[in-house]
Amino acid sequence: MSICSVPQFKLNNGKKVPAIGIGCWMGTVGDSHQVTEMVLNALRLGYRHIDTASNYGNERSVGQAIRESNVPRSELFLVTKLSSEDHGRPEEALQHSLDRLSVDYVDLYLMHWPQAFDAAHDRYCSPEESPTFIETWKMMEGLVETGKTRSIGVSNFSIKNLEILLKNARIVPVTNQVELHPCLPQHELLSYCSSRDILLTAYSPVGKHKFATNPTVLEIAQRKDASVAQVLLSWGVNRGTAIIPKSTHETHMNENLTLIALDNNDMQILDNVHHQPGMHHSVCGFHSSDLGGSCFGWTYDQLGWDMLEGGIMRS
Ligand SMILES: NC(=O)c1ccc[n+]([C@@H]2O[C@H](COP(=O)([O-])OP(=O)(O)OC[C@H]3O[C@@H](n4cnc5c(N)ncnc54)[C@H](OP(=O)(O)O)[C@@H]3O)[C@@H](O)[C@H]2O)c1
Repeated sequence: MSICSVPQFKLNNGKKVPAIGIGCWMGTVGDSHQVTEMVLNALRLGYRHIDTASNYGNERSVGQAIRESNVPRSELFLVTKLSSEDHGRPEEALQHSLDRLSVDYVDLYLMHWPQAFDAAHDRYCSPEESPTFIETWKMMEGLVETGKTRSIGVSNFSIKNLEILLKNARIVPVTNQVELHPCLPQHELLSYCSSRDILLTAYSPVGKHKFATNPTVLEIAQRKDASVAQVLLSWGVNRGTAIIPKSTHETHMNENLTLIALDNNDMQILDNVHHQPGMHHSVCGFHSSDLGGSCFGWTYDQLGWDMLEGGIMRS
């Protein structure tokens, strides 16, 4: 797929985002030559949407790739995220990210999680404690006027927390970045966000490649002469979500840029994979019974995540 044929989504502020981006979470925190090489390769292959985060610790390596690529800044859609420990100071945190990335602005600044982290006491703040995500969001709204970010959005927000946010927001988030793949399709969240013109961005969109042996996805892949990843990513874009697969392998990166046509029947099959016994789950472990009913200091109820016993999500 050439650069111009990567589909784009229009955001609620009129700006456009390439539907396919390169994810930069490498599994471990830190700058590395591998990150720079991955982003450089991605830019050479035609990716123009880059997803990183302050928490990934690799903004310097991403910035280095952007500089070395010679791709004009105006062609890029660069995303980074506000970490939980910086909820009380997004302006300062964004400036640090810009300095590390060595750019004047990002295209999108996301609140990485709704929870604030109190680093001085090594604990997550409760939802009612200051800085609440509403207070943080109001500070993020001010960042758009500074020109240091073109758009703002959220990540890991449920319908419950979006409802609270939207009641208090002057700016509607352009996107909500959440875990999405056929084992965690979050259909209700997708329809809620669509009805409010909030684009959902799918993280872990190839399910960390855990679908490689899934018979349902394999059957479609074989029938379409495509890879499992292509089936999953095409489903993601077809249902109206942006996708940010991570890959350090050029063949995978190329494959992930090449969407295939899926008809309504294929879409329905993939929409229903999570109804198969034991198939409704997270691949990241965030929505998981292993965490004892909470994630990063908040209960599933506070996060607005609907869980059944055993970590299997309500269908
Ligand atoms: N907002 C958040 O809280 C949050 C949380 C998690 C992730 N994210 C973002 O989402 C991005 C993607 O999520 P993710 O890294 O968790 O999962 P992912 O993109 O679903 O999966 C990445 C894994 O799949 C493999 N892979 C990718 N394309 C493949 C292909 N075509 N064929 C075979 N294997 C393939 C990669 O291996 P190879 O490198 O070997 O190809 C890697 O091991 C992250 O990098 C990050 O930017 C955001």
